Amino acid sequence: MKILVVGSGGREHTIIRKLKESPRVEKIYAAPGNGGISRDAQCVAIGAMDKEGVAEFAKENGIDLVFVAPDDPLADGMVDTLTGKGIRAFGPVASAAIIEGSKVFSKNLMKKYGIPTAGYEVFVDPAKAMEYIESKNKYPVVIKADGLALGKGVIIASDHDEAAAAVKEIMEDKKFGDSGNNVVVEEFLTGPEVSVLAFTDGKVVKPMVSSKDHKRAYDNDEGLNTGGMGTISPNPYYTDEIAEICRKTIFEPTIAAMNSEGRTFKGCLYFGLMITPDGPKVIEYNARFGDPEAQVVLPRLKTDLVDIIEAVIDERLSEIDIQWSEEATACVVMASGGYPLAYKKGLEISGLDENGQVEGATVYHAGTKYENGKFLTNGGRVLGITASGKTLDEALAKAYNAVGKISFEGAHYRRDIGKTK
Ligand code: AMP
Ligand code: GLY
Repeated sequence: MKILVVGSGGREHTIIRKLKESPRVEKIYAAPGNGGISRDAQCVAIGAMDKEGVAEFAKENGIDLVFVAPDDPLADGMVDTLTGKGIRAFGPVASAAIIEGSKVFSKNLMKKYGIPTAGYEVFVDPAKAMEYIESKNKYPVVIKADGLALGKGVIIASDHDEAAAAVKEIMEDKKFGDSGNNVVVEEFLTGPEVSVLAFTDGKVVKPMVSSKDHKRAYDNDEGLNTGGMGTISPNPYYTDEIAEICRKTIFEPTIAAMNSEGRTFKGCLYFGLMITPDGPKVIEYNARFGDPEAQVVLPRLKTDLVDIIEAVIDERLSEIDIQWSEEATACVVMASGGYPLAYKKGLEISGLDENGQVEGATVYHAGTKYENGKFLTNGGRVLGITASGKTLDEALAKAYNAVGKISFEGAHYRRDIGKTK
């Protein structure tokens, strides 16, 4: 098979490396890919949002399958465009990807179908939002822009003034553009967070092994929220008992709810959960693999990913027995100095071999480019250094050992991946 993967981050590099293991795969293309991906696949200069460009390339090059990995092209209907032209594609159609694209949609869905989540109200009027927050007078309070905002549209306000500033920023200054036309004002929940990615064909849902993301920029969960600074799998807080509660109260009801709404979800559905004192609740849904969750989950997959993808597309996922390795995995993200705010690009990365790898770990490239035999930084999150071991400690030790061999000016990484709640 010839497969085209849409996207350019560490998640896409991970997907490509897993696809390469399949004996069924003859050639992999990436649109647009990155420096590390260029060592594993053929990168083509087509943007991840270019639906027509992707479709045309797929037709002209006899692509058997397009894997649409990022949220934006999914929300924008890339899978609809491709399937409309007779091209097989993995990922939800736009009407289902809205589960990530609109927080108002996902909150209303959960309320309608009794899926546990934080209590909330939706507002279109900033004055009404503030009236509500003042009447509740309970802090911290969580304020979320409705639409996609690169994971940055969530503000946890610890007092009245912070809440007022957040409402103004999102709704009046339009910091996240039209994503802030509506806001969700939400009850603040506490407890460890768990990411569970699941394959679903709309009929059955098969959760993958659990993981834990570390979203804050600095150690001890300090600093700004980022796309994710590191991950581990499995998540120690996700016991078999919790998993069973999630299956019954969250995973299966969500699939059924989407079907009832005429929005059958096919692809990878990501459940962002919080294990609260009242049981597991949904913090958010994503319509795709997480990044850097994919980096620790997919390496543990033993079943051929191509077989699973085809079973999802053809709605026969129930026939597949998905096997996972018992090993633990850890991923440490090396980011550009300054990320998630402004940072420099184009800095040379040293310590990598000609394939962008180091011994003892797998290096998934995110913001890198490859030029004249050198790897250069080209984004906020640069590399995800991933290792596995019999225990989490062993995986972490291997990953950090490999991190120590790699350097670039201003490189920043967390030293406490796997250690905090
Ligand atoms: P989201 O983009 O919805 O995943 O939110 C980003 C992060 O904000 C989450 O990973 C949580 O750490 C935090 N968060 C979101 N909603 C809540 C909530 N209701 N209570 C506490 N923390 C939250
Ligand atoms: N790591 C969080 C996400 O992919 O949304």
